[in-house]
Amino acid sequence: MQFIIYLLLTALLGPSSVNGYLSGRHETDGSHIETQLELLGARSQSTPPTGKIALTNVRVFDGWTIGEPSTVVIDGDSITFDPRGVHNTIDGEGGVLPGLIDSHIHLSTLASLKSLSSYGITTVMSMGCTNYTLCAALRNQVGLTTFFTAGEGAVARNSTHATVFGATGFVNSPSEAPEFVANVFGNGSEYMKLIAEPNGFNQATHDALVSATHALGKVAMTHAQDYGSYEVAIRSRTNGIQHVPFDIPLTEEMAQRIKQQAQYVTPTLNIGKIVTANATLVSILSGGMNLTYQAGVAGVQQLMHAGVPLLAGTDANDAAGSFLVGDTIGITLHRELQYLTEAGMSEVEALRAATVVPSIWHNLIGRWSIREGYRADLLLLKPGSDPLRNISQTLDIARVWNGGIEYVPAA
Ligand SMILES: *[C@@H]1O[C@H](CO)[C@@H](O)[C@H](O)[C@H]1NC(C)=O
Ligand SMILES: *[C@@H]1O[C@H](CO)[C@@H](O)[C@H](O)[C@H]1NC(C)=O
Ligand SMILES: *[C@@H]1O[C@H](CO)[C@@H](O)[C@H](O)[C@H]1NC(C)=O
Ligand SMILES: *[C@@H]1O[C@H](CO)[C@@H](O)[C@H](O)[C@H]1NC(C)=O
Ligand SMILES: *[C@@H]1O[C@H](CO)[C@@H](O)[C@H](O)[C@H]1NC(C)=O
Ligand SMILES: *[C@@H]1O[C@H](CO)[C@@H](O)[C@H](O)[C@H]1NC(C)=O
Ligand SMILES: [Zn+2]
Repeated sequence: MQFIIYLLLTALLGPSSVNGYLSGRHETDGSHIETQLELLGARSQSTPPTGKIALTNVRVFDGWTIGEPSTVVIDGDSITFDPRGVHNTIDGEGGVLPGLIDSHIHLSTLASLKSLSSYGITTVMSMGCTNYTLCAALRNQVGLTTFFTAGEGAVARNSTHATVFGATGFVNSPSEAPEFVANVFGNGSEYMKLIAEPNGFNQATHDALVSATHALGKVAMTHAQDYGSYEVAIRSRTNGIQHVPFDIPLTEEMAQRIKQQAQYVTPTLNIGKIVTANATLVSILSGGMNLTYQAGVAGVQQLMHAGVPLLAGTDANDAAGSFLVGDTIGITLHRELQYLTEAGMSEVEALRAATVVPSIWHNLIGRWSIREGYRADLLLLKPGSDPLRNISQTLDIARVWNGGIEYVPAA
């Protein structure tokens, strides 16, 4: 049951922090070892040379609209509109989107990068790393989804994340914050991750972790999924708040402060939906609090109303398959877009939450649009599909390219 809770709630810390359960699985599951060998081997591949490929007759999403049919050319790993020297032509006949971005995920296998690629998700932001060797191997996999990651999550000793979920990234006092943060970035992490929870850090330790992160010119992401912890996260001036409160909806006043402080939010309605739909899970998790999906939706509506940047993220976890029924890596981002529109976002805002908005706030240069010189991360839709009419049509996937290399699922 303890592991269920861990995986459920947030799975902030990556699988190897769960002592016992997963380490046992590593020893006995041969396919997992095979995957890791493949993962380490795959790094050494170089980009296969490709001539220019023209996608003709495609309707391009430019960040706001889907335009008239035109031609987009893939030149190596980049986009161009210069048709000279085209080697291969593909009649697109459909919409073409920049590859989608999942701003909150947990993964540990090459298989997950393949699954994401098959769903047109070409960039992911991992929200925790407990094995820097593994995270380095997941990075820069040629022809697959790009993996960016937080370091080991900072947690308070004796907090729920420590005692129940097995997290070990302890910070005991504000004075320990600079060294912890230096290790996170010394190990190549893109951003800092910290946990706000009812029995977690006091405000001073939060503030010290965020300050130490900012002192290095980096950004901090804070997990918070209850009302009280949200307040702590807002006050700490962390950059990206992960989740929304599922106990008591955040207020209009809180949303306005988040906006004023230029913070942003990744609501992860997907995980809220899965957990709150399962009475067993709610009873395990709630600790006496009512957790409702509606509270999360009400929070998203306050944030939208205040104009807070909202990023699409799922909290999908590839170690959670047996616990979180339906939490499948890849498809869940498309579901998140549907949940965001059901909560009141327009279709274009939802698409922007998985393209333009995360690119801006995560500083992903050259990834958010289809422009000259941008990275050729592309999702070609089937003829006639228009996700601006119905967001579920992002699932009408015809072909996908990561950095100019088409992802072709193994037969
Ligand atoms: C970390 O990951 C690497 C690559 O998968 C693996 O070889 C190593 O055993 C892992 N280390 C631990 C402590 O789990
Ligand atoms: C954590 O709990 C242990 C055992 O209950 C206790 O001895 C220790 O002082 C606690 N540490 C903190 C930092 O609260
Ligand atoms: C990487 O992190 C570990 C702790 O997890 C730390 O001991 C080590 O110094 C860090 N490496 C760098 C280069 O910061
Ligand atoms: C939880 O919600 C139910 C139904 O709205 C209500 O009857 C109950 O009192 C609430 N419990 C708590 C602990 O807030
Ligand atoms: C609810 O969660 C439990 C524990 O993970 C799981 O065994 C059960 O199948 C889930 N129920 C449904 C309807 O998904
Ligand atoms: C969008 O398409 C889905 C799947 O075809 C359908 O179930 C849904 O009703 C459509 N929604 C709208 C608003 O048309
Ligand atoms: Zn998470």
